[in-house]
Amino acid sequence: MKKTASQFAPANIALIKYWGKRQSELNLPVTSSLSISLPLGTRTTLTLTSDKDHVVLNGQEQAPGSTFYTRTIAFCNRFRPLNTFFHVDTVNDIPTSAGLASSSSGFAALVLALNELFEWNLDKKALSILARQGSGSACRSLFTGFVEWHRGEQDDGQDCYAERLDARMEDLCLGLWMISEKEKPIDSRRAMNLTVATSPLYSAWPAIVSEDLKRLKEAIFANDFLTLGQVAEQNALAMHATMMAAKPPILYWLDESVAAMHKIWKWRKEGLNLFFTMDAGPNLKLLFQKKDLVPVTSLFPHLQVFSLFSS
Ligand code: PMV
Repeated sequence: MKKTASQFAPANIALIKYWGKRQSELNLPVTSSLSISLPLGTRTTLTLTSDKDHVVLNGQEQAPGSTFYTRTIAFCNRFRPLNTFFHVDTVNDIPTSAGLASSSSGFAALVLALNELFEWNLDKKALSILARQGSGSACRSLFTGFVEWHRGEQDDGQDCYAERLDARMEDLCLGLWMISEKEKPIDSRRAMNLTVATSPLYSAWPAIVSEDLKRLKEAIFANDFLTLGQVAEQNALAMHATMMAAKPPILYWLDESVAAMHKIWKWRKEGLNLFFTMDAGPNLKLLFQKKDLVPVTSLFPHLQVFSLFSS
């Protein structure tokens, strides 16, 4: 066992969304999903102490009882040696809880740091299974590039893990169009549970995902950006449709989110290959190709752009 360990994990953005659990304790999803990892993410440094637990997020000590402290320490408790305390220092280079999937990179970085600290030497599949138990989407943040999270069939979740797809799309870019960095009104965990329990549209979701996943994988392996963009955008809108029909309804969109969608659709009609995806928040993630960087950033000034494959 080491005394300290520090690890980084990338945030990921789903192109085919994970929305709904078939089992909550182990975070087993109703469907498979597929994401792309960003160059941004979370660095977590763990130190064992004999004093008391401390959780620091972006330089700020978190109060015991706060959501972030409670979720982090509950996860560490599974592995705590006798008479030992954790100092957890987490730095996100993306805003926490702004729908930019910081919990995905957070739990992945925590699991990687635990693996180093306790010298478990686990492989990526086993680490992905562990990270999934912290936050579902975290299991995809163990990898770079395109990542598929397999739904699995078993009740113990041992066949429910993420894996990197052996494919690249050199000119793929993702732009973060920030509309609000405010904490969202309802977190993704509660929102997806409410959707599964109360939305009459949820029953359509598994078939939508299996068709979209098939088409998206074909597009990725054929280097077909237009199909990738179309499928990702439709899948995100279908996910939001299921939650709007929940009781009470869940609508993460703000006026500016809808205005951005109309702008994208207008320019697409004019011939610009620009698409979007959205998660549990008001911000848009734009999908486009490097060759269109100039027109896209002139339409969306201050867009934070990531080139996903070229190093
Ligand atoms: O892993 P969670 O509980 O943060 O849920 C993630 C849900 C979405 O971001 C909306 C979709 C996804 O697949 O990442």
